[in-house]
Amino acid sequence: MSEYETILTETRGRVALITLNRPKALNALNSQLMHEVVAAARAFDRDRGIGAIVITGSDRAFAAGADIKEMQSKSYMDVYLDDFFAEWDALAAVRTPTIAAVAGYALGGGCELAMICDFILAADTAQFGQPEIALGVIPGIGGSQRLTRAVGKAKAMEMCLTGRKMDANEAERAGLVSRVLPAADLLDEAMTVAASIAEKSLPVAMMAKEAVNRAFETTLTEGVRFERRVFHSTFATADQTEGMTAFTEKRTPVFENR
Ligand code: CAA
Repeated sequence: MSEYETILTETRGRVALITLNRPKALNALNSQLMHEVVAAARAFDRDRGIGAIVITGSDRAFAAGADIKEMQSKSYMDVYLDDFFAEWDALAAVRTPTIAAVAGYALGGGCELAMICDFILAADTAQFGQPEIALGVIPGIGGSQRLTRAVGKAKAMEMCLTGRKMDANEAERAGLVSRVLPAADLLDEAMTVAASIAEKSLPVAMMAKEAVNRAFETTLTEGVRFERRVFHSTFATADQTEGMTAFTEKRTPVFENR
């Protein structure tokens, strides 16, 4: 029996799949689901046999937001003392590459969860939004920050101030998602992309992820300097030797992940 009740987990080769599974609530992110997604992602992150993690929902909803019914009766002291939502930071700290495969609604916390992942592949049915303002709150899992970095001030402001949703094509044009796919192909393509990442060197993939993420935290000069130092450190891996040797020998590299 699975140790989780609100998500499904499986592995296919070196790829782990986490499926949000509260269909009656359109995968609303209650506390239990938050604990379970974070616990599963951290467990996969510790597993050297896993090279990429895909997070997905259902055809109808990736996730329709944080669970409004659970939050409704909370007080300021409840959310402040519990540091409500801080647990999601542990997902952002996962070092294994993460992909969000989004179909249907990705609203509020659903959009924010997708944006915590390293990149988003969207079905043509996907709808992204930060509708919290209609509930008398603002985004609380990083939406005001990550959406602004992804799509710029104009669209982020409009979405956070009005709650307007963005469809998949607009999200791709704006840079929120890397690609839009026919809904029927979404999961297969996400697993294929994840498998292609997972067959690379895991430590080098982690370094690439860390370098890209640094771009959001620092100046260009410091970021380029950080990248160069990390680039130098790839030469300490057996995988650099294998990758470059395989190229010169005109064969496919077989990375040992070290
Ligand atoms: N929390 C709790 N339950 C939710 C939910 C949510 N965020 N979203 C949907 N549900 C529940 C509905 O209450 C409904 O349950 P019942 O059958 O028991 O009534 C069920 O899921 C199906 O939803 P609808 O009947 O509303 O389906 P619909 O197709 O008519 O509408 C929708 C779909 C437009 C997504 C609509 O459900 C909706 O607007 N949901 C809320 C979206 C939202 O405001 N999200 C932001 C939440 S706040 C947040 O996320 C804070 C943050 O920053 C972290």
